[in-house]
Amino acid sequence: MRWGLLALDSDNVQSYSDRELFSIIRDGVRFTGMPGFAGTETDDQIWDVVDYLRSLR
Ligand code: HEM
Repeated sequence: MRWGLLALDSDNVQSYSDRELFSIIRDGVRFTGMPGFAGTETDDQIWDVVDYLRSLR
């Protein structure tokens, strides 16, 4: 996996499972600029974001 700026519709992102995308958005990605959203979004809202990412496929 090459980190850095990632297009959300790319295979790099879309090859993660729903559960993995959920964890990435909830917890962030350590040692990158990717923040976690657990403090500001509910789990339901984070699942909605996962659905949104899938809609970009
Ligand atoms: C819609 C869902 C997402 C949102 C709202 C989001 C939001 C953000 C934000 C606000 C930043 C910080 C930008 C900055 O100010 O430096 C960021 C960076 C980053 N995100 Fe996300 N992200 C999302 C999905 C993802 C996914 C799915 C991945 C990985 C599979 C990811 C990986 C990263 C990485 C690696 C960075 C650091 C980029 C860099 O500066 O090199 N993000 N994201």
